[in-house]
Amino acid sequence: MSTAKRYTITAALPYTNGPIHIGHLAGVYVPADIYARYKRLTGHDVAFICGSDEHGVPITIKAKKEGVTPQDIVDKYHAIIKQSFEDFGITFDNYSRTSAKIHHDTASEFFKTLYDKNEFVEEVREQLYDADAKQFLADRFVVGTCPKCGNEESYGDQCENCGTSHNATDLINPKSAITGNAPSLKETKHWYLPLNKHEEFLKEWILKGHEKDWKPNVYGQVKSWITDGLRPRAVTRDLDWGIPVPVEGGEGKVLYVWFDAPIGYISATKEWAARENKDWEPYWKNKDTKLVHFIGKDNIVFHCIIFPSMLKAEGSYILPDNVPANEFLNLEGNKLSTSKNWAVWLPEYLQDFPDKQDVLRYALTANAPETKDNDFTWKDFQARNNNELVAIFGNFINRVAVLTNKYYDGIVPEPNTLTTVDEETLAAIKAYPSVISSSLERYRFREASQELMNLARLGNKYLADEEPWKVIKVDEARTQTIMYVALQIASALATLSEPFLPFTSAKLKTILNTEENSWEDISTKTVLLPAGHQLGKSELLFSKIEDSEIQIQLDKLEASKKANEAANKVVEPQKDTIAFEDFTKLDIRVGTILEAEKMPKTKKLLVLKVDTGIDTRTIVSGIAESFKPEDIIGKKVTVLVNLAPRKLRGVESQGMILMTETPEGKLVFVNPDDTNVSNGLHIS
Ligand code: MF3
Ligand code: ZN
Repeated sequence: MSTAKRYTITAALPYTNGPIHIGHLAGVYVPADIYARYKRLTGHDVAFICGSDEHGVPITIKAKKEGVTPQDIVDKYHAIIKQSFEDFGITFDNYSRTSAKIHHDTASEFFKTLYDKNEFVEEVREQLYDADAKQFLADRFVVGTCPKCGNEESYGDQCENCGTSHNATDLINPKSAITGNAPSLKETKHWYLPLNKHEEFLKEWILKGHEKDWKPNVYGQVKSWITDGLRPRAVTRDLDWGIPVPVEGGEGKVLYVWFDAPIGYISATKEWAARENKDWEPYWKNKDTKLVHFIGKDNIVFHCIIFPSMLKAEGSYILPDNVPANEFLNLEGNKLSTSKNWAVWLPEYLQDFPDKQDVLRYALTANAPETKDNDFTWKDFQARNNNELVAIFGNFINRVAVLTNKYYDGIVPEPNTLTTVDEETLAAIKAYPSVISSSLERYRFREASQELMNLARLGNKYLADEEPWKVIKVDEARTQTIMYVALQIASALATLSEPFLPFTSAKLKTILNTEENSWEDISTKTVLLPAGHQLGKSELLFSKIEDSEIQIQLDKLEASKKANEAANKVVEPQKDTIAFEDFTKLDIRVGTILEAEKMPKTKKLLVLKVDTGIDTRTIVSGIAESFKPEDIIGKKVTVLVNLAPRKLRGVESQGMILMTETPEGKLVFVNPDDTNVSNGLHIS
C-alpha cells in the first residue's frame, strides 16, 4: 500500500441560488465523497473541502426578482444546502461560504499579490452597457449568440451549450438580461489575467504532463482551448455584489466570481485548519500534497486553465494533480433544469426517502455520467434497489445473520477443515481491496461500485452452492465452516462498502458487532471476524421500493412538465380592434344544457340541446374531448345566440357555446358564475 499522503480534495462550490439536485450529486459530490472516504480509510491525511459560492450575477438577479437582498438569498440556500449535504452523509471536513470574512480577506490578498507582482494587465476597454439600467452588462446580465457554436442563449462569460468561455463583447447580437435592450458600449477599466502568457506552461503541464492520467473528456476539452489560443480574461467587474477590488482605481468594482470562488477552496481550508489547530499551508503548498478537484464538465476551463494560471502566477501554491470532471446527468430523458423544475431535489428526496441515502448514492454511482452524459430514471433507481441492494447485498447479509443467530446464537462458529472452495473464497476476499482501489485511483466509480457488488455476489453464490440450510441436517462440522467463511465475506463487505454505502456500512458493522477492519486488513488478515465473536442485533439493510412510491415521483415530474408547458404557452396576439357597434351586434345569453350526446363518427363534436330562454335549440359544439355528455347536462353556459346557423356533419348548429382554456389547455365553459341566473339573461 502507498505511504500515507496528504490529500486536498475539493468539490465545486455550489451556487447558492437553489437547492442541490441529483445532477450535482452524480457529477460532483457523490464521487468526491467516495474518494475522500476511501482516502481516509486507506490511512491518508485528507482535507475534504467545499462551501457555498455566494457571489455572482444569478444571485443578484434572483434577489431582485424576489424583492430581497442578495444576502437574504445566500443565507437561505447556504443553510438548506449545508443541511442536506450533512443529511446525505457527505463528509466535508469544512463546508464554508464565500461571504465569510476569511474568504473576503484571502481573495483580496490573493488579488493584491498578483497585482503587486504585475501579473495583471490593466486596461480601459469598451464594455457592454445598459443605459436604461445604468449598468455594465457582464456574465449572466447579458445573453447573445455564442461565437463558437451559434447557441442563441449564451451568457456573457460562458456558453452552456458548447462550454466555451468568452468575453461578453464576443457575443453576437447581445441583449441585456435586465431590460432586453441591445446594449451600447462604454469605456471602463478592468484588470485582466493574461492567459496567453501562461500558454506555454499550460502546454507543458497538462498537454505533455497529464495526457495519460487525466480523463479523456477533460484532457480533450483543455487541449482544444489551448489550441484555439488563450486571451487575457477580465477578473474584475462593474457590479456591487462581490468582493471589492482592493487596489487603487478599483472603487465600485468587484472581483469576478470565477476569480474569487476557487480561492474559496483555500479560505475554507484555512478556516478548517484554524478550527482544528492545524497548519493550512501544507495542504496547499507542500509538493507532496495531492490536490484533486471534483467538478462538472462546465467547470473544466476554470479549474484546468484559469485557476491554475492564478496559482502559478502567485507562485507559492501546488497545482491540481487531477481534475476528474464528470459529464452531465439527465433526468427521464430531459436535461436537468432548475428553472424548469426538472430535477430531483436533494431535500425533497430526503423527505420522501428518509432512510435511503445509500440507495440514491448507489443508483447515481452505478450509473454515473463518467465518460458521457447519462440518464437517471426512477425505474432504474427502483431496479438498482430491488434487484441489487435488496436482492444481492441485503439478501446475503440477511441470510448470514439469520442463520448464525439460529444455529449458533449469533456467535461466529469455529471453522473445521477448509475445502478448496473455501480456500478460494477466502483468497478472493483478499483481492477485493486492490481491485476496488485500482478503479478508484483511476476515478472509475461505476466500476468500483460494481466490484463491491461482485463481492456480495460472491457471498450469495457461496451460500447458494454450499447450502448450509441443507448441510446442517447431515453435517454440523461442515456447516460451521460454511458459516464461518460467509461471515468473513460479510465482514469484508462492512469495510469495503463504507465509501459507497456509508449508512449501510455502519448498520452492517452494528449487525456484525465488529471492530473496524481497515481497508488494508481485508487483504492482509486471514481472520476478519474470529470464531467466538458475538454478533450484534440484526436488522434489514435494505427494503424493497414499491411501484407506488416510484409513481409518486413520476407524478411530481409530470406536474412540473405540465406547469412548464402552461408557463411557456405562447399567448395569441390580440386581434384587430372592433368598433363598439360591432360588439353590440353580438347577442349573448345564459342558457342551460338539456341534452348532450356524441356526434357519431367524430372525435370532437357533441350535439347539445340548449334552453336559451328564448327557445330550445340545437347547438353542435367541439368539446367532446374535454367533457363527457352525461357530465354537462344541467350546466349553465354562455351562448352566442345570433350566430348565423351552419351545418356540421349534416346537423344544423344554431348558435355557439362560449368556451375558454385553462392554463393546462383544457376547455372550460365561460360560466355565468351565479347558477341562479335565469336563462336568456343578456350578457353585456
Ligand atoms: N458555483 C460554480 C458552479 O456551480 C462552481 C464554482 S467552483 C469554484 O458551477 F471553484 F469556483 F469554487
Ligand atoms: Zn457555444
